[in-house]
Amino acid sequence: MRHLLVTGGAGFIGANFVHHWRRTRPADALVVLDALTYAGNPANFASLHGTDGFTFVHGDVCDSALLERLFGQHRFDTVVHFAAESHVDRSIVSSEPFVRTNVLGTQALLDAALAAWKPDFDGKRFHHISTDEVYGSLGPNDPAFTETTPYDPRSPYAASKAASDFLVRAYVHTHGLPATITNCSNNFGPYQFPEKLIPLMIINALTGKALPVYGDGNNVRDWLYVEDHCAAVAQVIERGRIGETYNVGGGAEMANIDLVTSLCALVDRKFANEEQLAARFGSCPAARRATCRDLVTFVKDRPGHDRRYAICADKLRDELGFRPATAFTAGLDRTIGWYLANETWWRAIEGGEYRDWIALNYGAQRQGAAR
Ligand code: NAD
Ligand code: TYD
Repeated sequence: MRHLLVTGGAGFIGANFVHHWRRTRPADALVVLDALTYAGNPANFASLHGTDGFTFVHGDVCDSALLERLFGQHRFDTVVHFAAESHVDRSIVSSEPFVRTNVLGTQALLDAALAAWKPDFDGKRFHHISTDEVYGSLGPNDPAFTETTPYDPRSPYAASKAASDFLVRAYVHTHGLPATITNCSNNFGPYQFPEKLIPLMIINALTGKALPVYGDGNNVRDWLYVEDHCAAVAQVIERGRIGETYNVGGGAEMANIDLVTSLCALVDRKFANEEQLAARFGSCPAARRATCRDLVTFVKDRPGHDRRYAICADKLRDELGFRPATAFTAGLDRTIGWYLANETWWRAIEGGEYRDWIALNYGAQRQGAAR
């Protein structure tokens, strides 16, 4: 039986991970530590509140005294570190919270684990969640990122994640901390905060708002259904080699405009097949048998926008036998289904901080120039 500390477990991937772990390893104990920033939402694990072996702690990963107390109380043998500021556009507006949480928060967590575990690291594991964005940007014909691609972060977000990865590697080499890292491509699925591309486009399509595609829409990302990411992380925790980095990818490279076009077609089809959707979402073009593609609007590009990410996940496949189980279109269809079934979840987010962010990010600064 393991005793896990999951930081950032109220966010998108962290919450999916907590559900995944609970479903697949029900005997283990889970403590979620999350600061509940704008992206953290206790509703993401509502069904687990009050259940045996699940504890939620509202707190900051930078708070060393809290971490020391938690390690003392719970005797964790496994740390899974998701907590982060995660949105590139926000890191362009202000990088300070990114350096604080992603760099200093990781350092505080590493120190807490080290102090609690040293010198007996037997059975212990610190798993750090990172991103493919640390490797930089690819040209159209460049080979995909491997685990040995030199780091070349280009946004403040990617730079802060790169710094945290280096700290984790340094603690392995210097202190012998039994850590592993996964660098994953773009995730999508249930519970994703609707400032990221896919949930933003789903909600804007349903509510008849513009679908803002940055620049020429030909930036390429590799997409992975979140459940597959969670399954990969679980396997690396259990069977990955200490000190190693594993890339995780979906093998689904796509230009943003192609993704948005596919998403529109799937929403159109759902409205064609389910009559009640037109009554629920009267502003969606599909409600009047038009297409959501009519909402696509090219807007001014993101500064420093990385052109292409692509992941080579051969190491994970060859060493641990891992392959993603969900094809991109099936995952996207399931994700649209989740947002349709969970309107209350995203309606609750729409006010306040989220409205202010949308006004800031898509306001005057993105007007005018497009392709
Ligand atoms: P998210 O923004 O949805 O969730 C982040 C969570 O961290 C939130 O619950 C937030 O409240 C919490 N948090 C933020 N600051 C904190 C602090 N100081 N102390 C404690 N908790 C804090 O992000 P996500 O998309 O779920 O990403 C999770 C992790 O996965 C991040 O480390 C991110 O870099 C990495 N990642 C994300 C993607 C992706 O496509 N979303 C891809 C690769 C890697
Ligand atoms: P995003 O979901 O923010 O993830 P990341 O920047 O970490 O890859 O964006 C995915 C891609 O979609 C990225 O190339 C930027 C683009 N994008 C848009 O075109 N419009 C949008 O409104 C957003 C949020 C992103």
